[in-house]
Amino acid sequence: PLLSSTRMLQQARSGKYAVAAFNVHTLEMLQGVTEAAIETQSPLILQSTVGTVNHLGPEYIVAAATVAANQTGLPIALHLDHCTDFNLIVRCIRAGYTSVMIDASMHPFEENVRQTAKVMEVAEAAGVNVEAELGKVGGVEDDIIVDELDALLADPDECVKFMDLTGVHTLAPAIGTAHGIYKGTPNIDFARIASIAERVAAPLVLHGGSGIPAEQVKLAVSLGMAKMNIATELRIAFSDEIKAVFANKPSENDPRTYMVPAKQAVKQLAMDKMQLCGCVGKA
Ligand code: 13P
Ligand code: ZN
Ligand code: NA
Repeated sequence: PLLSSTRMLQQARSGKYAVAAFNVHTLEMLQGVTEAAIETQSPLILQSTVGTVNHLGPEYIVAAATVAANQTGLPIALHLDHCTDFNLIVRCIRAGYTSVMIDASMHPFEENVRQTAKVMEVAEAAGVNVEAELGKVGGVEDDIIVDELDALLADPDECVKFMDLTGVHTLAPAIGTAHGIYKGTPNIDFARIASIAERVAAPLVLHGGSGIPAEQVKLAVSLGMAKMNIATELRIAFSDEIKAVFANKPSENDPRTYMVPAKQAVKQLAMDKMQLCGCVGKA
């Protein structure tokens, strides 16, 4: 069966490694990261965004993820990424998701607390892990002054207060990473990670995993990041292989022909990220 990610991530936090969490959009992407977990004997978090839940339907995603967990016998969780809609969270929990993110980070602190606590109520009853976000993960404009930049990052005092008020299992504090591929090197506030980790015992989640240089990932993980989300790089790896097949043979019309190399590229990238996270052999 699919497992809640709570224990998996607590073990990662205390073992100073991170579990790699992959946003998948198709069956082959899901199979590719699962094969990577088998080959490296890693714990695994399969994730879907709200858009993919709407695209495929939560029941199909749960069914495929459940097969992955049952056939491999590996610790695998299924997580709903960046959800702002309470009703969709409830729907996914009913369908069998074992972890959900309530993203109320665009609201003031008190409203974020209120929405997160409300999700905690339904999730705890179902044994489902909850992730919340503080600060705002996003692209950083080149000309934003430091004060404004700072305002986007999670405040360590607020993190402590937030954990006390919500009891949320896992926390994604904004510390300077961004979704998508970075133009230069990401401007990660490692001192902030350290000061949050010093005061928050729960597993911390690193968003914006695509494009972070290896040394920066390792440092962030060593400081307390216990889960790393990877979306964009996986999509690119998958799509590039399909494009290459069609560039070579525009008349190709057998999906298996282009899905096989695409799945293989997903697997390879996932194995690289697992290595980076230090979760290889931790299943
Ligand atoms: P990337 O697209 O940068 O990999 O970010 C992934 C993420 O944080 C998903 O929640
Ligand atoms: Zn994210
Ligand atoms: Na990124």
